[in-house]
Amino acid sequence: MSDRQKLIVNGGRRLEGELRVHGAKNSALPLLSAAVLAHGETVLHNCPALTDVDVACRILTHIGCKCRRSGDTVTVDATNVFGGEIPDNLMREMRSSIVFLGAMLGRTGRCKLTFPGGCELGARPIDLHLSALRQMGAEIIEQHGYLDCNVGKGLHGAKIVLSFPSVGATENILLAAVTAKGETEIHNAAREPEIVDLADFLSKCGAKIRGAGESVIAIDGVERLEPCEHSVIPDRIAAGTYLCAAAMTRGEMILTHCCPEHMTGFLQVLEAMGMRIYTYGGGKMYLSGKKSYKAPPTVRTMPYPGFPTDIQAPFTALCTTAEGTSVFVETIFENRFRHVSELVRLGASIKTEGRVCVVQGVKQLSGAKVCAAELRGGAALVVASLAAEGTSEISGLQYIDRGYECLEGALRSIGADIKRV
Ligand code: UD1
Repeated sequence: MSDRQKLIVNGGRRLEGELRVHGAKNSALPLLSAAVLAHGETVLHNCPALTDVDVACRILTHIGCKCRRSGDTVTVDATNVFGGEIPDNLMREMRSSIVFLGAMLGRTGRCKLTFPGGCELGARPIDLHLSALRQMGAEIIEQHGYLDCNVGKGLHGAKIVLSFPSVGATENILLAAVTAKGETEIHNAAREPEIVDLADFLSKCGAKIRGAGESVIAIDGVERLEPCEHSVIPDRIAAGTYLCAAAMTRGEMILTHCCPEHMTGFLQVLEAMGMRIYTYGGGKMYLSGKKSYKAPPTVRTMPYPGFPTDIQAPFTALCTTAEGTSVFVETIFENRFRHVSELVRLGASIKTEGRVCVVQGVKQLSGAKVCAAELRGGAALVVASLAAEGTSEISGLQYIDRGYECLEGALRSIGADIKRV
């Protein structure tokens, strides 16, 4: 059980070598829910082995699909899908469980579920999801913590204007719209690469979608979707975390199976700190090491293509030993500095005030016992401990395992002294 395990890190080893980036968690999860819409067997390659992906497979099995994994390929047979209930224990395990709603309504017309769980980053409401689905004809009764959703005569297209480009809401609308009657337009849609991946998958299954990756997406509903074979895009947040880890130890690394074009905003900030990054065709990138880095210009987390909120925590860890003062403004989530108090235990000098965090670079961190409180904050503790003098002990691994495929194994393969006990 990863909630009783710990990572033991002896810091100070310079990382050097080559790492393969696994498939994107944030793509795999909506793709697995999209498989519900395809009448037959969907094959997903490059599907990361993560606990959140396991939860998605358990939800699929619960609603009647047959799931099996072989290496990094997951096969979902959605020949039989029951309209029904997603149990509360599975809903609570991750935020993404909510994207099953759009797919279930599209396939069976009915779904009963509870409010989703996931990492505690603030309130994380689902009002945008529900209001859009209601505009498309879903009747949703919210009672006793349950959402009882029915489409009555079926879903129909609608013009939906999102007040914020929510990733999850855009995905849910896409999933509901592909087999709804008529045309749906999503205005102020999220533009993340994971949205494009979902639209690519749905299009291969026969959906008619224009504009994915732009802020207006138009979907022409079709009668039904057929299954397809698809490869999940690389995980840009895992790739970014690996880069932070190597840079933290003043090391150098080659990343393979990544997509540098999805990481432009982040890579520019690394370059502004003095790092050299070389990108090659075929999903390869090289980070060359330096002895010291200067603090970056003020970082504001923004929807894609801005600086990703998910890389803020690992990147904050990197800035703890940069020369000068770094300022972070978190604009997406209200409570995304939970790693800060733990980084301070490791010797960092950081102050937070509301959504702003100010990091004063120090010369050296020192090993300590720290605890992850959520996924990316946990990764930040691993990044920091790699350069901390002495031994660090990191608990709360159940969060880290949600989004990184054996993080310690990857880091060990490039020279880190890290083990799970
Ligand atoms: C997804 C990602 C997550 C990432 C986030 C922002 C997945 C599985 N997760 O989460 O890793 O950090 O995008 O890039 O893909 N909001 C509302 N009402 C809603 C929906 C969202 O107010 O109905 C608010 C949220 O509280 C938050 C902001 O919108 O403040 C962004 O949320 P959203 O883009 O929906 O993030 P997720 O899809 O949950």
